Amino acid sequence: YLDFIGSCGIIPMINQVECHVYYRRKELQQALVTQGTQMQAWSPFTEGKKFIFQEPILQAVGEKYGKTAAQIALQYLVQQGIGVIPKSSHRERMVENLDIFDVTLTPDDMARIQQLETGKTLFGWYED
Ligand SMILES: NC(=O)c1ccc[n+]([C@@H]2O[C@H](COP(=O)([O-])OP(=O)(O)OC[C@H]3O[C@@H](n4cnc5c(N)ncnc54)[C@H](OP(=O)(O)O)[C@@H]3O)[C@@H](O)[C@H]2O)c1
Repeated sequence: YLDFIGSCGIIPMINQVECHVYYRRKELQQALVTQGTQMQAWSPFTEGKKFIFQEPILQAVGEKYGKTAAQIALQYLVQQGIGVIPKSSHRERMVENLDIFDVTLTPDDMARIQQLETGKTLFGWYED
């Protein structure tokens, strides 16, 4: 990424990249921050590549707060300074996906969710 930025005349304000609970990309985010670029999660629900809405760790954390696995998956990213763009064609899910800002995950919650990290893209059409 830094090689790419070195060739840019204008530093991007936002970089939308694959990012979800299975591939959080902390190092990339840190590199972006040094350039003043906001990281934004592309496909925060993994485009159906994982059964994220039935993920037991997300469900268990959500139960503590009366939240769904989807909401916890989003809050995990938002709380770490990552913008998210979840897509839904259902109004009630759009409302659900917006209703995350009344929860603050604890360090213990974050550590539990971090167990889902694979360090690998689910899509395979690029690598860092
Ligand atoms: N950069 C770009 O130009 C660009 C362009 C297009 C798309 N994108 C990215 O592509 C993604 C859209 O692709 P995608 O829809 O395949 O991936 P996605 O956002 O990872 O997943 C969306 C799927 O999750 C379902 N869903 C959403 N909220 C839910 C909830 N609360 N509970 C249960 N299911 C829920 C949706 O179903 P329903 O719709 O049936 O609710 C849909 O099937 C966006 O996240 C966006 O970041 C980027």
